[in-house]
Amino acid sequence: MADTMKENLSKELTALKQQGLFKEERVLTTPQNASVKTEKNGEVLNFCSNNYLGLSNNPDIIEAAKKAMDRFGFGLSSVRFICGTQSLHKTLEQKVSEFLGTEDTILYSSAFDANGGVFEPLLTTEDIIISDELNHASIIDGIRLTKTNKEKYQHSDMASLEKILKNHTDKRYRLIVTDGVFSMDGDIADLTNICRLAEEYHALVMVDDSHATGYIGETGRGTPEYCGVQGRIDILSTTFGKALGGASGGCISGRKEIVAMLRQKSRPYLFSNTLSPAVAGGTLKALEILTASPDLRKLVMHNADLFKKAMIKNGFDIVKGDTAIVPVMLYDEKRAVAMSSRFLDEGIYVIGFTYPVVPKGKARIRVQLSAAHTEKDVQTLISAFTRIGKELKVIA
Ligand SMILES: Cc1ncc(COP(=O)(O)O)c(C=O)c1O
Repeated sequence: MADTMKENLSKELTALKQQGLFKEERVLTTPQNASVKTEKNGEVLNFCSNNYLGLSNNPDIIEAAKKAMDRFGFGLSSVRFICGTQSLHKTLEQKVSEFLGTEDTILYSSAFDANGGVFEPLLTTEDIIISDELNHASIIDGIRLTKTNKEKYQHSDMASLEKILKNHTDKRYRLIVTDGVFSMDGDIADLTNICRLAEEYHALVMVDDSHATGYIGETGRGTPEYCGVQGRIDILSTTFGKALGGASGGCISGRKEIVAMLRQKSRPYLFSNTLSPAVAGGTLKALEILTASPDLRKLVMHNADLFKKAMIKNGFDIVKGDTAIVPVMLYDEKRAVAMSSRFLDEGIYVIGFTYPVVPKGKARIRVQLSAAHTEKDVQTLISAFTRIGKELKVIA
């Protein structure tokens, strides 16, 4: 390694550690679940995974993944268009479309890849992408890969969005893009008004429903269902790596002409290996389970509700929302770091988020509830918050 780079990287890594920005990875020795064992801290109650429906260690999904491997092999050693498409992939695309109520679906190795590959084939310098300022990194990167025009609107601010739409009526296509659920605040995009403005200004709408698919909306169809705009979203991206079993993989689902063009031109689809049979088979089972068991989504929302009500009653400042992501606001960076490490001492795994992941002065502990948690788990968390909150003078 070139000496200058080695030296510079070592200095930068040391600086990250000194600023408290170095990300340590805790090593788990068990499957993902309501509680997990870690190499350093033993068994901990886990409130920081995206395992919303508690399906990450579901025995039926594991069995379905094994069966898919027995029948279809370990891997395809090919991209889709050469010799990497099995009947299993077509079935998963069809089932995802049926579930989301869309015309067609295209699979990717991740939602990050889906968002990375969706814009460039569809938009040129004649067009504009109008993106919520708090959209996920993968949307930001996907937009960067295009030569199209781009503008950001203020977070969930419809006046800001409308102003940009008004200024760009000369463009061939206007594409509004938003996360369905914003992962740092747990708030839901105002899709009712986004769709209204899109129709008024002849724009297209894309929603990234990675933190919603499977558990938001009356039957878990996500934020379009929650906002009553199903059928009015042109492009929906989502992940199989959160509520739908949590393995990996993602997709773009939506208008059939859009999906057909992505199959021809989307670079992460054309030049990256196909989804493994075990992941495709397991994800199909996850869809089957959550469609047949509405209780799972009721359970995660019940747990979230229980936690939010108790936290408000006990004097904490939480960001209110209708999802299983609950940010407990501390504002003070040091206090957020101290609090999350005190939780770990008590056998509870929650993460403190500080700048630059969240804006300066908006430090918080982000709690994520799951259908895998029992009421007792949630009560344990509430008691720990109250005890540690008093100790650190977060509440009186
Ligand atoms: C909103 C959003 N989009 C996309 C992704 C990426 O998903 P995947 O893990 O499938 O790449 C994430 C994951 O954190 C996300 O939160």
